[in-house]
Amino acid sequence: MENKNKILVVDFGAQYAHLIARRVRQLGVYSEIVLPETSLEKLKDCSGIILSGGPSSVYEEGVPRVSKKIFELGKPVLGLCYGHQLMSFLLEGKVEQGQVKEFGTAQLEILKQEGLFEGLQEKETVWMSHGDSVKELPAGFEVIGKTRDCEKAAIANLDKKFFGLQFHPEVTHTPNGLKIFENFVLNICNCKKDWSIKNYIELKCREIKEQVGNKNVFLLASGGVDSTVALALLHKTLGEKRVYALHVDIGFMRQDESAWVGRQLEKLGFGNFHVINAEKEFFDCVKGLVDPEEKRKAIGQKFIDIQNRELKNLDLNPEKWLLGQGTIYPDTIETAGTKHSATIKTHHNRVDSIKKLVEAGLVVEPLNLLYKDEVRALGKELGLSEKLVWRHPFPGPGLAIRCLCSNGILEDVSDIQKRAESVAKEFGLQAEILPIKSVGVQGDARTYAHPCILIGETDWKTFEKASTRITNEIKEINRVLRLLAPDAIDSIELIKATLTRERIALLQQADAIVMRAIADAGLMRDIWQFPTVMIPLMVNGGGESIVLRPVDSMEAMTAKFYPLDEEVLKKITDEVLALNGIGAVFFDLTHKPPGTIEWE
Ligand code: XMP
Repeated sequence: MENKNKILVVDFGAQYAHLIARRVRQLGVYSEIVLPETSLEKLKDCSGIILSGGPSSVYEEGVPRVSKKIFELGKPVLGLCYGHQLMSFLLEGKVEQGQVKEFGTAQLEILKQEGLFEGLQEKETVWMSHGDSVKELPAGFEVIGKTRDCEKAAIANLDKKFFGLQFHPEVTHTPNGLKIFENFVLNICNCKKDWSIKNYIELKCREIKEQVGNKNVFLLASGGVDSTVALALLHKTLGEKRVYALHVDIGFMRQDESAWVGRQLEKLGFGNFHVINAEKEFFDCVKGLVDPEEKRKAIGQKFIDIQNRELKNLDLNPEKWLLGQGTIYPDTIETAGTKHSATIKTHHNRVDSIKKLVEAGLVVEPLNLLYKDEVRALGKELGLSEKLVWRHPFPGPGLAIRCLCSNGILEDVSDIQKRAESVAKEFGLQAEILPIKSVGVQGDARTYAHPCILIGETDWKTFEKASTRITNEIKEINRVLRLLAPDAIDSIELIKATLTRERIALLQQADAIVMRAIADAGLMRDIWQFPTVMIPLMVNGGGESIVLRPVDSMEAMTAKFYPLDEEVLKKITDEVLALNGIGAVFFDLTHKPPGTIEWE
């Protein structure tokens, strides 16, 4: 995008780099994330640079750095946390391992209520998360804010428009953080507010026309928000006849999903939407499998085979066809955080035959500069229904990874049972370890460990505390659940189970109940994603068990369990329990980390 009216965010591996770019866009200014090794030439093409935080320490070997020359580009620079320390270090100040580590909120005493801090109070609450801090200022800098434990929490070289903040203005725990960005972006960098979805549509329509020329576009539409919005934009730009959308029904979709998506699109005038029913092939390929990775592999491979076959059948002449994809911005950035999301989607966007097209420049990705919320705004602007636009993200292998399987072999969990019981007791609750395992994530590694159920009544805060204590103290447990029904547990039996049509149909019913209930309660937007999971456990001799897993999240990197309103929860529990074949309902009380969003 040729646009000098933009802010570049250099990502040093911070969890929050995405958040910085989003904050800037929220102000109506385009922002892009770049890697530290980005050329000075590219870094020059902007109105200002923000250096993100990151887990490193500036004096360590091999840590990410930018060239000192970025301070000679004549651009305003704002360094945050590690970015603040790195700027001080590169400009020959001194950074030290802090005697006192600061995590959480702190009171910032502002010494200059102008420039970066224009419009702020003398004292502001800010969010700190650091060990190292700046000890000696680089030449030309002065302190513009301090906290009790950090003398140089905010520094500036006002002549050169360089600013460094030890705290994180991008997180909501810094209540006036957005004002700081506004001062930097609009006043100090002099950016104009020209980033809006309407402008984006105009820009992309022009670009699509240019790239596609007189060719046509073929698009694989999963029914998810991204591919649906991409389809709508291509359709608007090129017209119905020149866009061919293909949807593969893999049998692990939500209840009646493929037909529903087809109907929705038809209503909007997308006649060129075709569905292939490949249910049987998919159920056949997972027959007898129990291991989650094996299930994933089999489904991924089948998807690739079918896509290749269909592409071959369509015999698309590259002289006449391009491939359209709903790839969104976070999927395109090569940062530590987003690499994961890029790989889990591999089977969708990078099938062998498709890879060749990508390499030959024959792929159109009209959403490649957008975040999910912007994709939704775009969809709305294009006239897609709220229901389509606010669909939750759904994994490629669909309900197959939300339907746990088992070979029925019990493991001895008596040791962790006792330890979990003693922690739960401190919160007035009982604990029970489940004899199955689910996937979790800690550090960068995936774990495969036992969930623990908490039995008893208390408030969400106490459940949260108990859950965190248990997963922190007992590493053999990566997930904690709350028992919703039945009231007590007399026996738990592990059932031998694989992926069958019957089990998937039952899970589809439970999932439909959940989706309907949260739509009725107006919670579709508040909850980022709500997997309904089926586990092959029989409680008190009833049917299988269902786990409710609503989460609040930022791009799925981290997540917090979403404390559902008790009334909605009761409605869901009662309806799910009334299904023939379901005997227990649990609620997942685990954040990510240590749990993942999906169970697998
Ligand atoms: P986890 O379970 O790792 O999931 O916390 C993070 C996000 O990724 C989604 N997910 C997938 N999406 N294909 C996808 O397109 C997949 O194979 C896949 N596996 C997980 C998950 O739903 C969550 O939003």
